[in-house]
Amino acid sequence: MDIQERRNILVTCGPGLKDYLQPEIEALGFEIISTHAGGVLTRGSFVDCMKLNFSLRTAYNVLYLLRQFRCGSPDALYKQISTVPWESIIDPEEYLCVVSQVDTKTINHTRYPNMKVKDAIVDRIKRKTGSRPDSGPDRNSVVVNLFWKDDKAWIYLNTSGVKLSDRNYRKMPHKAPLRESLAAGIVMATGFDGSQDIVLPMCGSGTLAIEAALIAMNKPAGSLRSNFGFKHVKIFDEQIWKKLRNDIRKTIRKNGLKKRIIATDIDEQAIYAARQNARTAGVEHLIEFSACDFADTQLPTGEGIIVMNPEYGSRLGELEQLEKVYKRIGDFLKQRCAGHTAYLLIGNKELSAKIGLKASHRIVFYNGNIECRLLKYELYKGTKQPRKHIQTHASK
Ligand SMILES: C[S@@+](CC[C@H](N)C(=O)[O-])C[C@H]1O[C@@H](n2cnc3c(N)ncnc32)[C@H](O)[C@@H]1O
Repeated sequence: MDIQERRNILVTCGPGLKDYLQPEIEALGFEIISTHAGGVLTRGSFVDCMKLNFSLRTAYNVLYLLRQFRCGSPDALYKQISTVPWESIIDPEEYLCVVSQVDTKTINHTRYPNMKVKDAIVDRIKRKTGSRPDSGPDRNSVVVNLFWKDDKAWIYLNTSGVKLSDRNYRKMPHKAPLRESLAAGIVMATGFDGSQDIVLPMCGSGTLAIEAALIAMNKPAGSLRSNFGFKHVKIFDEQIWKKLRNDIRKTIRKNGLKKRIIATDIDEQAIYAARQNARTAGVEHLIEFSACDFADTQLPTGEGIIVMNPEYGSRLGELEQLEKVYKRIGDFLKQRCAGHTAYLLIGNKELSAKIGLKASHRIVFYNGNIECRLLKYELYKGTKQPRKHIQTHASK
């Protein structure tokens, strides 16, 4: 397989994130072939896959297409997979993980096709080289993805391995942390690019603040990871990877920020965790942390962005308590935040009603399997005259 061979690349993402992933891919100079709920299809080489893995903030996996074929049975699947020259892709010393997504009448579970794909790969490598790779669920080495829908199948080399949302900076997760790719998508939805002040009360383990700082610095999301799936395949070239990383790193804005990133939480432990995580991410110097009630957060003057991710609650006692918190959030926004644009990630409609403000826009995101809304509040100063419009994803 040639490292420069152009093939289809499927970049997957969490639900609700493809509208942020698409412009990220376009900004890196890639054409968009199509988009769907779970990802974006583009085209490029194996080297391009490295670039996408290193740079993308809202993606899960970068999948390089190896073969696409008609498939009517598990035996046909085995036969087709056996025609791929696996011995030139996977060293028998490596470890293989197969991941399958199957939606076909012939099979009603993924374990069997998974086994067929794994067998076809290791049998071929054994035939050609005399030894075979070990296999199992660990995604830290070579990962191969099968998609099988009706009578069509696609086999991809997963060049990410472990999901890209695992940035490697969150050593201290604290309570209910957001997935890093979701936090990045939320920050992008506010239109934040480092040229505005951003305030993150209730910051928890600091994910939103850290993602904002990474965006402001233009620091690649993958720069903290040392491992990617692409490093485990035979065609990986360390020199090309080093050069690519160095070229991308040249675009990092190192000279501090012109604007402020402020992150607060009532829980001292949360602030401790957030600070440690920011240090690991190399952005601690850009974030002003302090432990306080959200209502006591010191806001910058002028027009800034405020993003809050309060707890959603599930038990009754908890909900009653949270109703008061949401009412206080509404008071804080009305009384202290005039001139700013606030965004609240809400997972419970009843609680959001307690805020007592009308949202000008709502965007659906999914936090795990909880459907959430990012509510936008434009908090006018004085009389309710629309002020200069800040163009954001949420207002498009
Ligand atoms: C859902 S968590 C935020 C998680 C965060 N987005 C992350 O990725 O780690 C909500 C946070 O609100 C904080 N909190 C709760 N009540 C607060 C209050 N009155 N003032 C400030 N923070 C508060 C909690 O300590 C918790 O860290």
